[in-house]
Amino acid sequence: EKGTYVHYMQKEIYEQGRSLTDTLRGRLDFEHGRVVLDSLNLSAAQVQALERVTIVACGTSYYAGLLGKHYIERLARLPVEVDYASEFRYREPVIGPGHLALAITQSGETVDTLAALEEAQAQGAFTAAIVNVVGSQAARLCDGVIYMQAGPEIGVASTKAFTASAVDLLLLAIYLGQARGLLSASAVMTLLEELSRLPGLAGELLEAAWQGSYYRELAGRFAHYQHFLYLGRGLNYPIAREGALKLKEISYIHAEGYPAGEMKHGPIALIDHQMPTMVIAPRDRVYDKMISQVEQVKARGGTVLAVAEAGDPILAEKADFLLPVPPSHELLAPILAVLPLQLFAYEVAVHRGVDVDKPRNLAKSVTVE
Ligand code: M6R
Repeated sequence: EKGTYVHYMQKEIYEQGRSLTDTLRGRLDFEHGRVVLDSLNLSAAQVQALERVTIVACGTSYYAGLLGKHYIERLARLPVEVDYASEFRYREPVIGPGHLALAITQSGETVDTLAALEEAQAQGAFTAAIVNVVGSQAARLCDGVIYMQAGPEIGVASTKAFTASAVDLLLLAIYLGQARGLLSASAVMTLLEELSRLPGLAGELLEAAWQGSYYRELAGRFAHYQHFLYLGRGLNYPIAREGALKLKEISYIHAEGYPAGEMKHGPIALIDHQMPTMVIAPRDRVYDKMISQVEQVKARGGTVLAVAEAGDPILAEKADFLLPVPPSHELLAPILAVLPLQLFAYEVAVHRGVDVDKPRNLAKSVTVE
């Protein structure tokens, strides 16, 4: 139940410190320096025979998949394709034995995702699902499962399932990388330690937001705009896509998530004082490039909101508003960076008077085409 919260979405945002603890429960084996994914049913020998990974999903789960591509390619050096399930099922996809078809689905009942899994299975791929609902169709259909362990998600806008999926994808990438002999024991240990710190960092960020009124104030300033651009690069490009989806589905403001490097290939033409830009810019390997995007937007009269590490002096000066995140490991920064975007979308929608748990035209689970 909602308890002290006004909306399920609000509750599900603020409980992510706890839901991430649940997602990690039983997964980090510090004693043996490994991750535990028993119900994946994929032995080290099977992993060694894998040639590629195809991720299929819809909506927010698709954006988690885009982040998963970075994780798996970086840590396990397997090529990863991410496809909208609704596109995959009506193509003639190249998939078969030696391929892992990985679905990401909170509900486990999304019809396009199920159909994509069935197609992959019929072609001989090993199928697995990262799924929240125990006993759902996806969980029953697949050869292996990773449960999100996020608890029921009721709000139509997916929040804690996104962060849970992202964590599970990182766990999977570590598992695959280790089974392929690519990660040293100390590299694995570092990742396990960083993962174990994540719920605390998320809880800290959310607690600060809960105690203050910053997001409500920001919402007051930005709720009347009609268009937003969200920019991210590398690991944070999927976060830009997800942040934009959150804003559009519950506030009905048009928002586009773009890879920052693509700005000059078109979207820069849109920049003016009527279209604010949200940049996601933790201090990672593409940070300097993000700074130059901020300069580009400012030079054209745009307003910049930046998801940035708390106390970042450069963005404090260059951006108009900061949405702070605690510093963290590069691979975990995107998971923290999505939290301010969830809070922002939520408060903007509330300010605009939308029933965020039941936005128009949307259903929690899309079981028809
Ligand atoms: O249950 P699933 O993860 O398969 O759902 C996929 C999408 O329908 C879902 O993420 C949708 O985009 C949400 N409304 C996003 O907030």
